[in-house]
Amino acid sequence: MRTDRTFTMLKPDSVEKGHVGAILEKITASGFRIVAMKLTQMTTADAQEFYAVHNERPFFGELVEYMTRGPIVAAILEKDNAVEDFRTLIGATNPADAADGTIRKLYAASIGENAVHGSDSDENSAIEGAFHFSGREMF
Ligand code: RTP
Ligand code: MG
Repeated sequence: MRTDRTFTMLKPDSVEKGHVGAILEKITASGFRIVAMKLTQMTTADAQEFYAVHNERPFFGELVEYMTRGPIVAAILEKDNAVEDFRTLIGATNPADAADGTIRKLYAASIGENAVHGSDSDENSAIEGAFHFSGREMF
């Protein structure tokens, strides 16, 4: 299992607010190389599958509505220790708890609309990357 890749989405609120450029600048300035990237929109079925681990949670319906309401930027990122380092860069799920300088502290509005996704394990990074990209879209 490789440990040098993670998967991210700049969520619909980031695209709506025009934060894509600033967030990508922060990601690349932090040492991540972009392996794959596209503007895309998830269907309801896509979001239900992508976040299936949360399907019993009370916020699941809101989460699916949010993640499907507009386009996202999906990307695969490469760096040593990618999953952990990217989770550090984005900060806590709730921006109120996120450390200063993190992407969620800077750009997230609330725990429900928190600007970015980051894979939580090497295994999920591979699954999530393959969910959005074919092999010929990865560089
Ligand atoms: P993500 O998967 O998007 O990177 O976020 P995460 O690991 O930091 O948080 P997770 O527990 O996996 O939750 C997934 C997403 O569900 C929404 N959420 N809303 N209203 C709420 O209490 C609540 N809790 C979670 C957020 O969009 C969160 O990122
Ligand atoms: Mg998560």
